[in-house]
Amino acid sequence: MKKRILTGDRPTGPLHLGHYVGSLQNRVRLQDEYDTYILIADIQALTDNFEHPETLAANVFEVTLDYLAVGLDPEKANFVVQSRVPELCELTIYFMNLVTVATLERNPTVKEEIKQRNFVRGVPVGFWSYPISQAADITIFKADLVPVGEDQLPMIEQAREIVRRFNRLYDKVLIEPRAMLGSVPRLPGTDGGAKMSKSLGNCIYLGDPPDAVRKRVMSMFTDPTRIHPTDPGHVEGNPVFTYHDVFNANKQEVEELKDRYRKGTVGDVEVKQRLYDALDGFLAPIRERRDHYRHNPQQVYEIIREGTAKGRAVAQATMEEVREAMKIAYRFD
Ligand code: TRP
Repeated sequence: MKKRILTGDRPTGPLHLGHYVGSLQNRVRLQDEYDTYILIADIQALTDNFEHPETLAANVFEVTLDYLAVGLDPEKANFVVQSRVPELCELTIYFMNLVTVATLERNPTVKEEIKQRNFVRGVPVGFWSYPISQAADITIFKADLVPVGEDQLPMIEQAREIVRRFNRLYDKVLIEPRAMLGSVPRLPGTDGGAKMSKSLGNCIYLGDPPDAVRKRVMSMFTDPTRIHPTDPGHVEGNPVFTYHDVFNANKQEVEELKDRYRKGTVGDVEVKQRLYDALDGFLAPIRERRDHYRHNPQQVYEIIREGTAKGRAVAQATMEEVREAMKIAYRFD
């Protein structure tokens, strides 16, 4: 039997280049080899968008377009809408008994996200405890492998802890999953910040039209110590070169540009222009596929329905085993 992948995204908007190198690329590469389930985590998206639930419907569609655009093949990968698998909620509740408040409070990713969010009425329990619901996501599909970005490692660790606890306490029915990081677990934002983030406006989206990409690239941060194109510049830690390394397939051009940059014989504008050309070559086929599906929503809905039905069947089978293991599969007939 094929091993299984489970991973997912919160549908809070379209996906960007950071998602691509952090995780999407691995999913595409592995979909032939693994039985793949990709969760469109709309319930998790609600944990901090609960005041605007009306945004979810469009975002579920956008994220699915991105999946199809990057080459995830619905024949191989199942796109599963989280809210349509109510078994996930049941498993989350059972898992809550296996996690302490202290453990949740130590989760570094959640801590960081709480800091960024500035919840005025205090941190909602739903947000604070989402690692437990994510553990249910991962385990209900019996995933072996979870391709994610670096910031998700604490979630996988939490899931592994819960699995060990569950299997010891009840019966060995759950699989302890492994994380798999992307080639670039964290792509810097175009502003040179640690990562691309919608709220910071430092993203290039997979579906961006050429002029939007050009504008973002031409306004990218470079070497802050360099004032004139004739000044020797720094390549390391310079986001424009980080992007060249990741997206420019012409390695010789990249090496030449780096060399000239260090010597002060090339200006930022030329380096950015070449990056734009490379990115456009990378994004053009993605944009084309995205447009095709965007204009054929019925085809997309059908893909979502089928993927979700398959995912739900797996989840239901796992829950039978879970209830059996917990000795709560009572029957009253
Ligand atoms: N927390 C992930 C994110 O913010 C999304 C997610 C939800 C997920 N459930 C998952 C990722 C299960 C991997 C596995 O991007």
